[in-house]
Amino acid sequence: MTDWSVESWKSRAALHQPVYAEPAAVEQAVRKLRSLPPLVTSWEIERLKHELAEAQAGKRFLLQGGDCSESLADCTSETIANKLKILLQMSLVLVQGARKPITRVGRFAGQYAKPRSSPTETRGGVTLPSYCGDLINSHEFTPEARQPDPHLMVRCYQHAAMTLNFIRSLIDAGFADLHHPEYWELSFCDNAALQDEYHAMVRRLSDSIRFMETIAGQSIDDLTRVEFFTSHEGLHLLYESAGTRTVPRREGYYNLTAHLPWIGDRCRALDGAHVEYFRGIRNPVGVKLGPRATADELLALLDRLNPGNEPGRVVLIHRMGLANVKRILPPLLQAVAASDRRVLWVCDPMHGNTRSVNGGADPARKTRDFNDILGELDASFDLHASAGTYLGGVHFELTGDHVTECTGGARGLSEADLDANYRSTCDPRLNYEQSLEMSFLIGRRLASA
Ligand code: PEP
Ligand code: CO
Repeated sequence: MTDWSVESWKSRAALHQPVYAEPAAVEQAVRKLRSLPPLVTSWEIERLKHELAEAQAGKRFLLQGGDCSESLADCTSETIANKLKILLQMSLVLVQGARKPITRVGRFAGQYAKPRSSPTETRGGVTLPSYCGDLINSHEFTPEARQPDPHLMVRCYQHAAMTLNFIRSLIDAGFADLHHPEYWELSFCDNAALQDEYHAMVRRLSDSIRFMETIAGQSIDDLTRVEFFTSHEGLHLLYESAGTRTVPRREGYYNLTAHLPWIGDRCRALDGAHVEYFRGIRNPVGVKLGPRATADELLALLDRLNPGNEPGRVVLIHRMGLANVKRILPPLLQAVAASDRRVLWVCDPMHGNTRSVNGGADPARKTRDFNDILGELDASFDLHASAGTYLGGVHFELTGDHVTECTGGARGLSEADLDANYRSTCDPRLNYEQSLEMSFLIGRRLASA
């Protein structure tokens, strides 16, 4: 690709980029980032691309999930392990329903930058820059905290490395081994029905593994160790391009800060800086599609991002909202199918179903209702079935902790309950029980497909 470089995005309009006060400090932070070792390898990225190609062909299912916005303060062993546990539990439930291998991709180890609908926030007559994620500024409502700080790029990179290091060691030590699902128990699921269903399923699975091992006469390690991949919104282009490198014995450039970076719904303009940057990297690329997406624009975007129609390259994550999905999604599915473009369709049932409620210290607290989330998923499965396309994955904002951010679910959380433990600094996440319940409902849906 002769008309692309790691910095060619700089000649295009780049939305949602921080404005730093001191260019010299930015230069220093970027230089430091460039000198640090990568977070992931091109081998892993190519492996994920291969799995995504299988999913595109209907042979796999993708589970992508994690925080809306990771925070530096939450880089603790308990929070990370809980996130891993809930994703493992959900994938186990999904594998039984889908009867296909599941690819697990965390929104973690780098999900630190947020596009905001307004560049400023006003509280009690005071207006400050909005909080844009720990990669850019800090959440506290003071002028100092809200000032973009380029050194946060280095701190976030280090925290992403620590997060990933812990995840990798847990997996290497057998934490994610299907022989030991007891390691993944979370301590606070008090919903007896969900617990019983989960335990019965784990017992069935352990029996099948033992049965297969008896027949094979050996341990089936390769089949029972699971993998995790990382993803984040590739929003902050200085950060993303500082982590973009060539590697020995492979062609082209890889973003080595995550396996699957994605372009947010607000940043996917065809002639914008994000699409320019993403078209030149070798990673698989996610694109979020909100209710403003049109078929023509989508086809042009696919031409730009994947002119060779490479398998496993593009993941389209639709997030239309329950109220819009039936109207907006079908023409997109038809256009892509009719043009034979290879994509993996994934449903994010979170971002189109957000609403603001008054609550607590935050006058514009956001929530989402379990039934709206499930409703968009159900409608999406139906729409794909009618279009003859394959809905090959789901994308959630969730946490393994016992937060109260989304309403509904088996425990019937109400708006009045949100105060109890609302911790997200950005969008509301499904808590542990809601996530597990959601996976059972999707699992049933996949089983009946
Ligand atoms: C997100 O995934 O947190 C996000 C901002 O999504 P979208 O680009 O779909 O609005
Ligand atoms: Co979000």
